[in-house]
Amino acid sequence: MSHGFCDIEGRERATGSAQAFMYLPGKALNVLRGLLQAYGTEKIKGYLWNIEFSRGRWDGLDKTPSDCVYQYIEKYADIGSILDLGCGSGSTGNELDATTYEHYTGVDISDVAIAKARKRSEENRRADKNRYFQSDIFSYVPTRQYDVILFRDSIYYVPSRKIKGMLDRYSKYLKRGGVFIVRMWNGNDKYRPIADTIESNFEVVERYLSDQPKAVVIVFSAGVLARALSCPERPPIAANGENH
Ligand SMILES: C[S@@+](CC[C@H](N)C(=O)[O-])C[C@H]1O[C@@H](n2cnc3c(N)ncnc32)[C@H](O)[C@@H]1O
Repeated sequence: MSHGFCDIEGRERATGSAQAFMYLPGKALNVLRGLLQAYGTEKIKGYLWNIEFSRGRWDGLDKTPSDCVYQYIEKYADIGSILDLGCGSGSTGNELDATTYEHYTGVDISDVAIAKARKRSEENRRADKNRYFQSDIFSYVPTRQYDVILFRDSIYYVPSRKIKGMLDRYSKYLKRGGVFIVRMWNGNDKYRPIADTIESNFEVVERYLSDQPKAVVIVFSAGVLARALSCPERPPIAANGENH
């Protein structure tokens, strides 16, 4: 398994701060990688993820046809729209039953992953319904509302103290009756604080624990207050050049 900073040789030069950590031992490197992928600048995060996707670290995600999250996405999309934040190389947008959604937007910080996702969608003849954008989850501003906003194994990379604020911001882009779906690895209690944040601030609609693989799927809606404050008929429109 490759670890970002070890793989810099022959690629574009790392920033000074990244170079300083290239010679750390494996465990320290992994801790640092986690910190930078959560707290780094958009440029550093994108750089690290690009290296990992280019080196094949995430190739295992390319074939997950019976993942437990799909039945929930398909149920709540209900032939509507899906926003996939941290979409990676495009498994969700290519493995979902194409008849269960009308529009899909995938967003990822890695342009290497986005290029792969786009290519897969073209090969699967889904280019008309699947759109992809390279962006940080934090700065991405949707241009429409969605039936489902998905974080599939991507919410870990959001610093925990920022999760509630981020979900509050995205809740403006949920259609009336729309839901968030978070899928996380559930092998130990490491990600329990994320589930606690969701469960104590939002309305959980469904929760599913999978044993093989160990995963949890949480379906939840924006709180009553957030719904009351949002204006479903007039979503805030971004000037980021998207054309849906
Ligand atoms: C473990 S992968 C999961 C990919 C995909 N959701 C899947 O299940 O196949 C995590 C993904 O989150 C993306 N990611 C991490 N931090 C991000 C951020 N701040 N903004 C956008 N994408 C991010 C990574 O580039 C990566 O593609």
